[in-house]
Amino acid sequence: MSPHLLVTGGAGFIGSNFVHHVIAHTDARVTVLDKLTYAGSAANLDGLPEDRVRLVEGDIADAALVEELVAPLTEEGDAIVHYAAESHNDNSLSDPSPFLHTNITGTFTLLEAARRHGTRLHHVSTDEVYGDLELDDPERFTEHTPYNPSSPYSATKAGSDLLVRAWVRSFGVRATLSNCSNNYGPRQHVEKFIPRQITNLIDGVRPRLYGAGLNVRDWIHADDHSSAVLTILERGELGRTYLIGADGEKNNLEVVRLILQLMGHDPDDFEHVDDRPGHDLRYAIDPTTLREELGWAPAHRDFEAGLAATIDWYRENEAWWRGQKAATEAKYRAAGQ
Ligand code: NAD
Ligand code: DAU
Repeated sequence: MSPHLLVTGGAGFIGSNFVHHVIAHTDARVTVLDKLTYAGSAANLDGLPEDRVRLVEGDIADAALVEELVAPLTEEGDAIVHYAAESHNDNSLSDPSPFLHTNITGTFTLLEAARRHGTRLHHVSTDEVYGDLELDDPERFTEHTPYNPSSPYSATKAGSDLLVRAWVRSFGVRATLSNCSNNYGPRQHVEKFIPRQITNLIDGVRPRLYGAGLNVRDWIHADDHSSAVLTILERGELGRTYLIGADGEKNNLEVVRLILQLMGHDPDDFEHVDDRPGHDLRYAIDPTTLREELGWAPAHRDFEAGLAATIDWYRENEAWWRGQKAATEAKYRAAGQ
């Protein structure tokens, strides 16, 4: 039998990238469990073979539904791959409640099912659980950096990581964890930094930079995140945490200027807007363990080329994002951003 993966949040940005990656690179069958919130779309799974990918619309905090989907996962190689989350910091500042529901209660519900059935689980998390670094800090985040989350989003992701670690230690749940840096690529929601600026420019609106734009993010292409998660599923040691990053540190000012330039505008034609409250200054991942122990390496090493391809994708797929754009911008306007 080919392996069977239950991918939560598989209709979102990174989860759908993973499903496409799995279908292209393995013989696994995939069941996607996704609530199809504002951030999820069945269209993200278009073009995938129906005999290998099934979409179940539902909530990861629905214990009866989760039981029904986890019970059949028994074979060696079967696993839950847990991407589902409320994922946007700015939303967590205006209403933290869904973040508690999905990121904490949802993860708890999956862990209990994995415990009952002895199912392998991979938990997808973020570098934000470690808080932020000074701009000149010579150290980057490692598996040993203490947790110090700043926002309701990152606090609930940190809480979910700690639940997974506790279920590993107390109940012997067969889990691995990964904490990845900022992803970019096709199918990212227009609320996020890079797609927001690209689609603003398509609409003739100047890009919006929070504060002075000196905050640093460590960019990785979503395809590389997917290949790293598959590597951990195949070769990772149970109970371990792996940090995923591609040495892609850039400040927001550099990124916005590059987007403007690639789209044929004056690189200084952007607006400074109100900063994000509690805005983390710098994220940076040290991916040495993943590279040296599991032999993983990113394929997308040229950020400018990856960004240019992402811009092309948004230009060519306006129907995919147009429906979300006005409501997203209205929310930002209300927040002075
Ligand atoms: P996203 O917001 O694009 O997608 C989230 C998906 O989860 C959506 O399809 C949504 O419908 C689904 N979902 C939300 N609540 C649900 C629920 N209760 N039950 C079932 N499905 C639900 O997010 P993303 O950017 O693709 O992030 C995916 C995962 O990767 C998250 O766990 C996030 O914390 C993590 N991560 C993201 C980044 C990044 O840069 N975006 C970096 C590191 C880690
Ligand atoms: O580090 C991983 C995290 O990366 C993930 O856990 C999150 O799910 C993901 O959303 C992302 O979080 P960030 O807050 O870093 O991403 P965001 O795209 O919201 O913002 C990136 C940077 O750009 C951040 O410093 C804020 C800034 N920004 C954002 C927006 C939307 C702007 O300057 N202008 C904007 O319009």
